[in-house]
Amino acid sequence: MTKKLIAGNWKMNGNLGANAQLLDAVLEGLGGRALACDVAVCVPAPYLLQVQGYQDRSRDSSGAPRLWLGAQDISRHESGAYTGEVSGRMLREFGVRFALVGHSERRQYHGETDETVALKAKAALSAGITPIVCVGETLAEREAGQTDDVVRRQLAAVIHENGHCITEIVVAYEPVWAIGTGKTASPEQAQQVHAVLRAQLGVASPAAGGIRILYGGSMNAGNAAELLAQPDIDGGLIGGASLKASDFLAIVGAAQVL
Ligand code: 13P
Repeated sequence: MTKKLIAGNWKMNGNLGANAQLLDAVLEGLGGRALACDVAVCVPAPYLLQVQGYQDRSRDSSGAPRLWLGAQDISRHESGAYTGEVSGRMLREFGVRFALVGHSERRQYHGETDETVALKAKAALSAGITPIVCVGETLAEREAGQTDDVVRRQLAAVIHENGHCITEIVVAYEPVWAIGTGKTASPEQAQQVHAVLRAQLGVASPAAGGIRILYGGSMNAGNAAELLAQPDIDGGLIGGASLKASDFLAIVGAAQVL
């Protein structure tokens, strides 16, 4: 079975003091044992150095971190005159293991197209960073019966651009209507879309069964176990609940027992 991944997305939240409190509590909760799932936090770029320290402190006896460091975005470019952007090579210098690409907030507020997202995934892979490629439909698209078409189109661009490397990505299904709204997709709704994505990945690669597909959108301590029990849900991408250690740890706990 694929090792589950529980990734927090702090979005534009935090400060040095609050981050330290949160991560001290998370590391204490994760304890000293090896974990049955991977755990990561995707943090704002100014905090990469701070959280890299926690990643280093969290290593188990095999040297693997119990808490992986993730970024929330990555430039599609390698270097040059791109004011404000952060390259994959820069992220790697801070030990970044994962980078979100194509989060719906980037698509919506920063005009990221499917093509841009695909190029960002490529930039991550070539820097040795695992992209967490976010896809998901809006409420209007769901109500118009377009969910499958929308997520397939978003993922197709990434498959097209990344070809044989596709098994190295993580996919996150995040229905836009469920993000930060308290409305979660039901386990059946989420599983149905995950199965669509799995089938599409299966056409691209015979090893698609090993690609982790996360669910995100109001996942919390109360609903995580049921969502994570679905056959094609291989983890969670957690916004609000990743900012509270007890909630985040409860979700990690749910992933551990499955
Ligand atoms: P919430 O868990 O706050 O709904 O956010 C989900 C999300 O966007 C994670 O990337």
